[in-house]
Amino acid sequence: MMGRDSTDLTLEMLNEEVRMIWDANAPFWASYMGAEGNSFHRLLVAPSAERLLALQAGEEVLELACGGGLFVKQMARLGARVVATDFSSVFLELARERVAEFEDQVQFVQVDATHEEEIVALGEQRFDAAVCNMGIMDMAEIDPLMRGLAQVLKPGGRFVFTIMHPCFNSSHVTMGVETRDESGEIITERFLKKTKYLYMEPEKGTGIVGQPLPQYYFHRPLHKLLGSAFRVGFTMDGIEEPAFGGIEEPKARVHWPDFHEFPPVLAVRLRLRQ
Ligand SMILES: C[S@@+](CC[C@H](N)C(=O)[O-])C[C@H]1O[C@@H](n2cnc3c(N)ncnc32)[C@H](O)[C@@H]1O
Repeated sequence: MMGRDSTDLTLEMLNEEVRMIWDANAPFWASYMGAEGNSFHRLLVAPSAERLLALQAGEEVLELACGGGLFVKQMARLGARVVATDFSSVFLELARERVAEFEDQVQFVQVDATHEEEIVALGEQRFDAAVCNMGIMDMAEIDPLMRGLAQVLKPGGRFVFTIMHPCFNSSHVTMGVETRDESGEIITERFLKKTKYLYMEPEKGTGIVGQPLPQYYFHRPLHKLLGSAFRVGFTMDGIEEPAFGGIEEPKARVHWPDFHEFPPVLAVRLRLRQ
């Protein structure tokens, strides 16, 4: 902690609380996700991340915030060598169990992505690629992550992240359905009402209904999110905004699979300049 000022200390305390919450939620999350993940993971996150990463067998890839290891397993199946990291020791243990059959290809390391030095300790210019699925909005700070990645990726290396879409999927969003009669035709439309975007303090919310503790969300508007990467030498050369497909009949309560016009997930590929 030497050399850290009071802002750093406050952040560090917040970060510790974030970790404690994830340790507490990890078993519930891993069991809810099951063997293949929930619809968000299966239909939106994993396909976009896999396409943008475009892994080649034998490549070495770093995963940050790997959670219960769903994507670790997917990358190992593709023949990648994976260094899987998370700051939650509980999640790491669950992930280790999930990918036991790939133990020759996967190494687990406890890394707090808000600590640049822990990322750099993995090895400078070591990785062909890095990935972080649905984790960045859960991190108290992202500048250390971007700085760390700029050092551990090979020149030209790529970093793919998926995140709750900051424009559509955050707190201060209300989902609704309205039905009207337009000259005899009954029109039903879903809408989102968003009341905050540029300025939002860290807030707690529920990722999965029934989880033991509410988790923190650290909303960042796009210029802050991407600005942090651009400052350390990344450029953006891939983007997807995956959304759910089919339209179901409106229900009393709407949720994300009811929306096909708004992407709840943003998937980005950044590339380190050569
Ligand atoms: C919503 S879960 C996503 C897990 C997994 N990537 C997935 O897609 O299923 C968020 C993850 O971020 C991790 N996380 C949050 N802050 C972190 C930090 N500072 N360093 C490392 N991991 C962090 C949590 O432990 C948790 O595993």
